[in-house]
Amino acid sequence: MLRYWTSGESHGKSLSALVDGFPAGVRVDNEAINRELQRRQMGYGRGKRQSLETDTAEILSGLWNDVTIGSPIELQIKNNDFKLPRLQELPRPRPGHGDLTGAIKYLGSIRGVLERASARETAARVAAGALATQLIQSFGIRTIGYVVEIGGEVITPRPGLSIDEQLAERTRSEVFSLDATQDPRIKKNIDAAQQSGDTVGGIVEVRVEGLPFGLGSHAQWDRKLDGRLAQSVMSIQAIKGVEIGMGFEAARRRGSQVHDPIGFDPAQKNTPSLGYVRPTNNAGGLEAGMTNGQPVVLRAAMKPISTLQNPLDSIDMETKELSRASYERSDICAVPAASVIVENVVAFEIATAFLEKFGGDSLAEIQDRYERFLEMARQR
Ligand SMILES: Cc1cc2nc3c(=O)[nH]c(=O)nc-3n(C[C@H](O)[C@H](O)[C@H](O)COP(=O)(O)O)c2cc1C
Repeated sequence: MLRYWTSGESHGKSLSALVDGFPAGVRVDNEAINRELQRRQMGYGRGKRQSLETDTAEILSGLWNDVTIGSPIELQIKNNDFKLPRLQELPRPRPGHGDLTGAIKYLGSIRGVLERASARETAARVAAGALATQLIQSFGIRTIGYVVEIGGEVITPRPGLSIDEQLAERTRSEVFSLDATQDPRIKKNIDAAQQSGDTVGGIVEVRVEGLPFGLGSHAQWDRKLDGRLAQSVMSIQAIKGVEIGMGFEAARRRGSQVHDPIGFDPAQKNTPSLGYVRPTNNAGGLEAGMTNGQPVVLRAAMKPISTLQNPLDSIDMETKELSRASYERSDICAVPAASVIVENVVAFEIATAFLEKFGGDSLAEIQDRYERFLEMARQR
């Protein structure tokens, strides 16, 4: 079973991801992991912290000559901004953070909670996801995450682009959208929020292409891939909603306007769809908790950043006097970064489901099982 844990505090010495259950025989490209870590730090609207950090992952275990050996893989990201022992307590909890609740729950300090609740932890999740991406890429599975809305402004992706063209367009966009020509409008919106001491959220979308039929399962609630994706994405800091395919809009339409008709095109028999074509993909690639040969499409809603330069009311926990919430250096908009995190978190979950179906101890063994399944499924 593929799984991971993370450890580390925002201003501690380092962050780590411990990935367990990763098969042997996968050549790991550390630079590809670092590229994702660097993308997580970028995007218009980030605060000063990102200029202090240059995130790179050091792989401390689980490899021999850059190839996995089947043992746990530890990825470590050092914090340049290590200063935890010198940091003070925050006297007034910030609304929208775990400050108040955590201090009461642990009968302790706000600092002790915020250091771990911080989204700095997502660097470790991205490292784990970028590693898992390398496994699923060996099977032709490709992921892309991008921004489709910031601060209420919709950014419609440029239509008709291949996944390679989409990747190039996303690189051009400072907000990681699929239409860089819309950047000025979006940046103006972020600037306006900053000028009024405020913050913005938004919506990101992830597409996963090249998926075979049958990842996940209909048979038990905790094996349904839609549910598992929602859980892992909802657990990302500041993500408040997840939609798959048409999502909430499906609830407003009639069945004939939602469900994807099934056709057959023998010319596509050798693609992951096995020739079963769907003119639409409103299901977002998942039916009954299983992948259905179509791309998985998932959206996640990020709330606006909680720490405000113009703070909301709060209470001093010592004196119980009404005051303004404490302020810590902060982002104005981290939606582009969220698109990187959601993409990598989704990649990890897909890799987990892939190994459940085709898993073995080594890449060669998994490849064999995968090919054999496709052969049998084509006869079906
Ligand atoms: C990439 C990213 C960056 C974030 N940066 C900040 C930040 O600079 N300041 C802040 O107050 N919250 C930031 N957040 C959000 C908080 O981490 C999050 O709202 C908080 O931990 C409470 O968790 P919850 O929103 O999931 O309830 C960020 C979230 C993400 C995903």
